[in-house]
Amino acid sequence: MTAPKGKVMNSSTPEPIRWPAEALWEALAAVLPGFTVEVLPEIDSTNSELMRRFRGSPGIAPRPEPTLLVAEQQSAGRGRLGRNWQSRRGASLTFSLGLPLQPADWSGLSLVAGISVAESLEPLALRKPGAPRIGLKWPNDLWLQLPEGKDAAERKLGGILVETASWEGMRYVVIGIGINIDPVDLPEATAAMAAVPPGCLRDLLPGVDTPEALMRIVPPLVQAVQAFEQFGFAPFQSRFAARDVLAGRVVDLSDGSSGTAHSVGENGALLVHTANGMKEITSSEVSVRPSTHGAAAKDTPAC
Ligand code: BTN
Repeated sequence: MTAPKGKVMNSSTPEPIRWPAEALWEALAAVLPGFTVEVLPEIDSTNSELMRRFRGSPGIAPRPEPTLLVAEQQSAGRGRLGRNWQSRRGASLTFSLGLPLQPADWSGLSLVAGISVAESLEPLALRKPGAPRIGLKWPNDLWLQLPEGKDAAERKLGGILVETASWEGMRYVVIGIGINIDPVDLPEATAAMAAVPPGCLRDLLPGVDTPEALMRIVPPLVQAVQAFEQFGFAPFQSRFAARDVLAGRVVDLSDGSSGTAHSVGENGALLVHTANGMKEITSSEVSVRPSTHGAAAKDTPAC
């Protein structure tokens, strides 16, 4: 299926979700030649599916064209570091953007995606005192920061999983994004497993739904990724710093050390001041958490 679709029907889903596939295609076809938009009722993982398509298989040619793949439901959503990503139809937005990309330096791409999503959903210029904010936790978490008061908290709003593959000198990137939309109650056992309880976009934008969130996020995301391809991470450094939730906090690194986070460098590396001096954290295998929180979650629940 390569044509843009405005609506997806599925016999097991009483309420069709009206996706803005046509509007997205019209907004982006000129800057992404060969672009397709596709919405699936269910798939294991939108990232896995775009990686499979890019790689091809015996008898099936690789498909390197720019593609936005949205899933109403994922049966095996994936997060970073081998974690699961749990989501529910209508309550979570799950999609991947795949496209060929040739930046001189790949460092910082997942941070750029996070910056773009945060700016689309909560522009700094429109910030109101006392309103929830979107912060970024290096390298790829979107956090909802609820204001002071009895429910003051930081909650995970979404996450980003960037993967790349190569074929005949072409490098293809898949940027997978999951955002919690609707604050429905989690089963107690699932909530108890989470290191950080989930936050939902409706706490910030009451009434927002998955199609509206998709429409807000995707065109600026494409623009940001293309700017990154041309100029690298450096122009985004201060935009990350403006939302950096770890800055000034003591963090524990998964290699056993700890220190104080000092935002990110020009290449997107997290700078951590440790007893042995300033460490540049670049490895995607190193996880970082504020030391006041509990152990890292195995599964990341969505709303
Ligand atoms: C994380 O926080 O660890 C990253 C979560 C990324 C989840 C999204 S949902 C759409 C895409 N498909 C996946 O299987 N994962 C990403």
